Amino acid sequence: MRVVVGVSGGIAAYKAAELVRALQRQTVEVHVVMTESAQKFVQPLTFAALTGHKVITSLWDEGDPGAAVPEQNGIDHIAEAQWADALVVAPATANILAKFAHGIADDFLSTLYLAIAAPVVVAPAMNVNMWNHPATQANIETLRQRGVTIIEPGTGELACGMVGAGRMAEPDTIGAAVIAVLGRRRDLAGEVVLVTAGGTREAVDPVRFIGNRSSGKMGYALAEAARSRGARVILISGPSSLQAPAHCEILRVTTADEMRSSVLASMNEATLVIKAAAVADYRPIAVSAQKLKRTGPLTLELAPTEDILAEVVRRRRPGQLIVGFAAETENRLENGRAKLLAKGVDAIVVNDVAGEGVGIDSDTNAATFLTRATAVELPQMPKRQLADRIFDEILALRRPQSVVVELDDERDVEARKKQAIQNRVLEESVPVGAGRRHQLIVE
Ligand SMILES: Cc1cc2nc3c(=O)[nH]c(=O)nc-3n(C[C@H](O)[C@H](O)[C@H](O)COP(=O)(O)O)c2cc1C
Repeated sequence: MRVVVGVSGGIAAYKAAELVRALQRQTVEVHVVMTESAQKFVQPLTFAALTGHKVITSLWDEGDPGAAVPEQNGIDHIAEAQWADALVVAPATANILAKFAHGIADDFLSTLYLAIAAPVVVAPAMNVNMWNHPATQANIETLRQRGVTIIEPGTGELACGMVGAGRMAEPDTIGAAVIAVLGRRRDLAGEVVLVTAGGTREAVDPVRFIGNRSSGKMGYALAEAARSRGARVILISGPSSLQAPAHCEILRVTTADEMRSSVLASMNEATLVIKAAAVADYRPIAVSAQKLKRTGPLTLELAPTEDILAEVVRRRRPGQLIVGFAAETENRLENGRAKLLAKGVDAIVVNDVAGEGVGIDSDTNAATFLTRATAVELPQMPKRQLADRIFDEILALRRPQSVVVELDDERDVEARKKQAIQNRVLEESVPVGAGRRHQLIVE
């Protein structure tokens, strides 16, 4: 496993050496990138000695003054981004957090952050007032929404003499968080994940539409989580004010019909289809060519839209997993299970959209991950975190399931073993019970 440790310019920079050691103890290979300010606190030589690698201190390689064209001696931030399985910045100054949040790329570390598709962990450290400032808190929130893991600073006496939040977390704690992130780092590599997100809009007249309150946050969080775990991601999004997640292919649609065409055109490429969009169930039968005038009561006649999820299931390829979402306001589990069985999907994520702080347009969500055999409760948490939990559950569906098959006599056992092309025999057990039944454990 390979990790880039970024060090920015705070008093806690010296503790980054302990973080490097903590990661190395877990057999992680470490490269270190230092900002210019960080070098005022600690010499790059410290990290070079610890890692055995040259410390990257600039976008430009100043080590070769004789080069004919010095600009061509840039250090390759893209190659570094591809090398790393994760980036951890400790300490993370208020300044570097602001640059990450706003996409400023004026030194190696901030440029690397934009180029990296692997998970990013930051351990902020600063004076309590800097930490509590609305600008810093807004930047932290932006990064959290984008899937950056934030290791909250501790409270106590700070280097500046003040007391409050702002102390960098202990290097061992940061190291453990990096290892946890690495644990799931590439577990979706090789998968092509198609995610639908947001609501759709059905025109009533040239300026009005029937829509819903879906913000796209859950679908975008799923896209981001899949990407950071190594999948290729196709995100099909209804209208949304959210920034497109980095490194995902995004297809924008407006109506349920456009959503259908886009999903059907892309689904063949996908190994996993997650339908998190809130697609309109009805559309106006006639769309007025002119803006409707207020002339008295108005009745709109609506026709049902196509059931995209059912169509996706009908066209599924072998091995393709299909996960639907159900937004329920009552009888969540019963309705969710009914949808699971009626549609023939592998799993349904059931949301309670009527609860406080959960569901449509909110930043947090709680859900139940339903399969034919299981119901896993996922308690209220930020949508990005929930996205990772949902992928943990989806990946469990890919794991071989072992079952015990009981057979009446030995001839059945032999026959079963011969036809065990799909059902691989994991273990053969001895005859059981007085009735001489036989057991095979297969997957
Ligand atoms: C002695 C001293 C200590 C500092 N400690 C911190 C700190 O702990 N956290 C922080 O965010 N900024 C701190 N700063 C301010 C940063 O060094 C400054 O904002 C700098 O521009 C950060 O650059 P960088 O983010 O590129 O490393 C400190 C500055 C000085 C002079």
